[in-house]
Amino acid sequence: MFKPNLRLLWALPVLSITLGLALFPGVLPSSAETPGAAAIPTPTRMPPVYNFDRNLYSLDDSASPWVVVNKRTPLYPLRYKPKSLVKPAMPGAGNPYGLKLAKVAGTALVKMAKAMKAAGAGTLVLQSGYRSYVSQVSVHNAQVKRYGLAKGEALAARPGFSEHQTGLAADLAAVGQHCTIQICFAKTKAGKWLASNAYKYGFILRYPAGQTPITGYQFEPWHFRFVGQELSKEMKIESIGVLELFWRLPYAPTYAG
Ligand code: DAL
Ligand code: ZN
Repeated sequence: MFKPNLRLLWALPVLSITLGLALFPGVLPSSAETPGAAAIPTPTRMPPVYNFDRNLYSLDDSASPWVVVNKRTPLYPLRYKPKSLVKPAMPGAGNPYGLKLAKVAGTALVKMAKAMKAAGAGTLVLQSGYRSYVSQVSVHNAQVKRYGLAKGEALAARPGFSEHQTGLAADLAAVGQHCTIQICFAKTKAGKWLASNAYKYGFILRYPAGQTPITGYQFEPWHFRFVGQELSKEMKIESIGVLELFWRLPYAPTYAG
């Protein structure tokens, strides 16, 4: 015989109100319609916090924080090496391989790692930082050997064409969160925190999803490029996530030769 579960009876009024509101929206007055309630002002677009100077740094100089490096625009010279490389003192076990970055990028990365830890998003790990022309030869060869030319070159730049050679790019992971240098990193706590917060520390996610025809690279949720806070914040304000689009540069899906 049907025996009602008395412990669930409390749910009936809640359910009927919820259903009623779903079927008859507008039956209850919203706060804006409540007599005597103050009018809610129409939101306006937030103004930029400062005037962005588009000529602050060079886009061509390999030592510039704004240098654009892609399949159309290699470094100059091709074997460029940054002058001030440092080993960032990451909190916890954040730099297990003793990797280096350009000083500006290293300082910013340490700040970002501390903020990420404080936010409870995990311990940031520097998985790859500065790579010389010669080490990029090995990275490129390994990926092409493993995946073939097209797929391999959607993951690894040719030597002289990698942001890692500027010392401004960092491949990031997090202790114990798996998905290291994999697309699923985007779904981890750290990957999500970085995607939302990196701009505050001067970094951008350089190869976003679905932008391969512009950047020439597959989605790399682990690859962050230091560009400085002026640019990263302006890109955020203007909602433009890709350097080529922001600077209105030609798309760079392939190499010229
Ligand atoms: N993975 C990036 C594209 C590089 O090799 O520079
Ligand atoms: Zn990278």
